[in-house]
Amino acid sequence: MSGLWNQTRVSSLLGIEYPIIQGPLGGFSSQRLAAGVSNFGGLGSFGAHAMEPEAITDVIAEIRSLTSKPFAMNLWVSREDEGAWTSGEAEFQRAASAIVPHIERLGGDAPVFTLYKPIRFEDQMRAVLDAKVPAFSFIFGIPPREMLDEARRQKIVIMGTATTVDEAIAQEQAGVDVVIASGFEAGGHRGSFLRSSEDSLTGTISLVPQTVDAISIPVVAAGGIADARGIAAAFALGAEGVQMGTVFLTCEESGAHPVHREAIRSGRAARTGLTRGFTGRLARGIQNDLMQQMNRPGTEILPYPLQRSLMRNLAIPAQKAGNAELLALWAGQSANLARCSDVHELLQALVDGAAVRLNR
Ligand SMILES: Cc1cc2nc3c(=O)[nH]c(=O)nc-3n(C[C@H](O)[C@H](O)[C@H](O)COP(=O)(O)O)c2cc1C
Repeated sequence: MSGLWNQTRVSSLLGIEYPIIQGPLGGFSSQRLAAGVSNFGGLGSFGAHAMEPEAITDVIAEIRSLTSKPFAMNLWVSREDEGAWTSGEAEFQRAASAIVPHIERLGGDAPVFTLYKPIRFEDQMRAVLDAKVPAFSFIFGIPPREMLDEARRQKIVIMGTATTVDEAIAQEQAGVDVVIASGFEAGGHRGSFLRSSEDSLTGTISLVPQTVDAISIPVVAAGGIADARGIAAAFALGAEGVQMGTVFLTCEESGAHPVHREAIRSGRAARTGLTRGFTGRLARGIQNDLMQQMNRPGTEILPYPLQRSLMRNLAIPAQKAGNAELLALWAGQSANLARCSDVHELLQALVDGAAVRLNR
């Protein structure tokens, strides 16, 4: 094995210089951030789970106009929870009653019940396959076999996310190239798919070495890594790459709202917590008044993604008012280490720090 930390199976499979992945950031992704990370020599990702297929095609073209280097597109395999189809207006009004007083105080529009209009994963993935992206990552399950076969034929590097060792084994058996082992420190959603998220809360320091022992394909560590010390720790556990999310959220180039970015940068993120209250699925963000309220026993929460759509009605006026107590402020447990003013500077510090700690 080479003595240089960055020469791993992950960097060679992806054709990148540094095995540092800017994790997909769902609706907070940006073409500029993804391209910036890729241009530096890492792997930028774009989280496209909420987008229509045509919009995904456009985003891929935009990223390609900003970089000629490899990048990843990311989707959610499972896009709705049981009950999304049958939940009706009565449930909607009960769930809305938790946030209507806030919306009224902020002068926003009252939530209006509409029928659930799904976007199909298969259609989204078709857009990703047709565009022949360099890499495809996913969460919340494993795509259908024929679609993975097609990705392989097109030489798209396939990266599956696992929150438990069992999920990593299932990903390897499905033929993915790389497993992203995501510890429960991570910001955003827990992408569990074999057991409930609540039952899949393994920390990175425990999950990574057990995953490395259980599978033979390379493992990328995610969750709680925000600086070069975290990269060195992940590599010591056997990871061949890292995926970082929260720290990239704080870069100017990210799609995060300034209130969100500032809440992390200002050190308000001292405490993060898990909640289903913001979208219907378990996810980690900064503890604030809204999270406390939504986690109170008895609060009605709609199935994913209905709860997410409902909460948009509050997010819009809360963002306008700059009210950080009434917003979903996604962040991981290392949010207080997350500092980025410029993505290039951040990456330079990460690779310099990793070289000092890891090169032999
Ligand atoms: C705001 C936000 C949105 C995210 N959206 C996605 C997503 O759509 N798909 C995905 O696979 N991971 C998503 N993640 C997870 C990140 O890509 C990454 O794995 C995680 O943030 C790593 O943990 P860290 O936050 O401690 O750095 C998201 C994370 C955050 C903070």
